[in-house]
Parts: sequence; C-alpha cells; structure tokens
Amino acid sequence: MPTTHIEAKIGEIAETIFLPGDPLRAKAIADRYLSDVTRFNDVRNMLGYTGYYNGKRVSVMGTGMGMPSMAIYSYELIKVYGVKNLIRIGTAGSIQKHVGLREIVIAQAASTDSNFAHQFGLDGHIAAVSDFGLLQKSVEAAEVLGLKYHVGNMLSSDVFYHFDPEHWKKWQKIGALCIEMEAYALFLNAAYLGASALAITTISDSLITGEQLSHEERQNSFVDIMKVALAIVPE
Ligand code: HPA
Repeated sequence: MPTTHIEAKIGEIAETIFLPGDPLRAKAIADRYLSDVTRFNDVRNMLGYTGYYNGKRVSVMGTGMGMPSMAIYSYELIKVYGVKNLIRIGTAGSIQKHVGLREIVIAQAASTDSNFAHQFGLDGHIAAVSDFGLLQKSVEAAEVLGLKYHVGNMLSSDVFYHFDPEHWKKWQKIGALCIEMEAYALFLNAAYLGASALAITTISDSLITGEQLSHEERQNSFVDIMKVALAIVPE
C-alpha cells in the first residue's frame, strides 16, 4: 500500500534506513555501497533504494530539506512501512570554535527554533534525543575508525537565510555545536511512533569564520560519515 509520498510496497523498505537530505546522494550511496539494489521510490524524485551491505539489508532515501519534509517522510516510513532505525546523514554549520570543517557531529539531542512539538499538546518542552543504542554504537565506530567527532546538541532550525546575522550566537552560548534543519522532527516522530533515530552530520561550513567546503569537498566529507553509518547497521 503506497503512502501519499512513497510508492513502495510493504516489505520493500528495510528496517534500517539512511536518510540524506539530497535524493541524488541517496542514489550515490546505493550505487557505491549497496549490492542487489532495488529502487522503491521516485515520487517527486525523492529516490529511495534497498540493498545489502555486508549481508545486512538496508535502505537509503532522500528526505528533502527542513523539518516539514523530514517529518512527512519519517512519519510514513515508520507508521506505514514499519522502519525501525532511521539514521539521518547530512551536513551542518559549526557554531563552536572547536568544531572544525570536515569533522563529524553526532547528535545526542536536537534543539529547535520551530514549533513542531506544538502538535503534541504538552504543557512544557520535550527534549528531542537520539536513540542511545545507535548513539553508543556510532561513537564506538568513530573511535575505531579514528575519526574526529563531537557528540552533543544540534540546533534544527527552520531558517537557513536568517535576516539576523547574529541569530546563532545565543545557541553558541548555550552550547549547541552546529546548525542543521531536520534532526528535531526526526527524533520526535521516532519517539512518538516507537522507532529509533540518530543524526550524523559532517561540518560543511562555519558560521563563525564563514568558511565553506566546495561541492567536491562536501562529497568527500560524506565518506567519513558513511563509514560510521554503515558500521552501525543492526543485524
Ligand atoms: N544552517 C542550516 N543548515 C545547514 C547549515 C547551516 O549553516 N550548513 C549545513 N546545513
């Protein structure tokens, strides 16, 4: 039974899925790392594939940019297709001096400037946390691989082109490591629907220095986070 945004049949999507924002990145990951690949989605060109890595069945699909898009896909993946482990892989902008370009940030939690959690009607603020098991495994993998990584709070923002150039400074002061745009909605959808989620990002730019990776460097920096993501696929 396809959903509004995914045309896969039930069973065509693995229990573990990697979620890059860019659907062409999903295709590149399937081409490069997976064997026996089948495509399960091309609605809206949001390409999704299932294949095998080291004998383990795994899927990869784009989510688009921002929390509304991530929320649509993660909801359908968990609620309708029974996906259990959702691992966002993406880029983020550093807001701390000690978090450098090309380094990895693994989310212990996501904070937000969005109103996404309003729908739950809570009389307070829910903390959006990653799954501890996935987090622990990813840290172990990054250690074994000898990669430079950080674990902490990311800011999932609704705004990329902020009209206040200093907007991130208060988040810096309170210790957030980097800014991206999807993890918060993914973590809360997973929490509410009973799945496990993690976000692993590579730092593609710095809001402190204004430095940015080139498109080619961005591609290369994905190699390291893919090493971590592939290492934590459950049996
Ligand atoms: N802001 C939001 N999302 C991002 C950024 C950023 O600076 N860099 C990469 N993804």
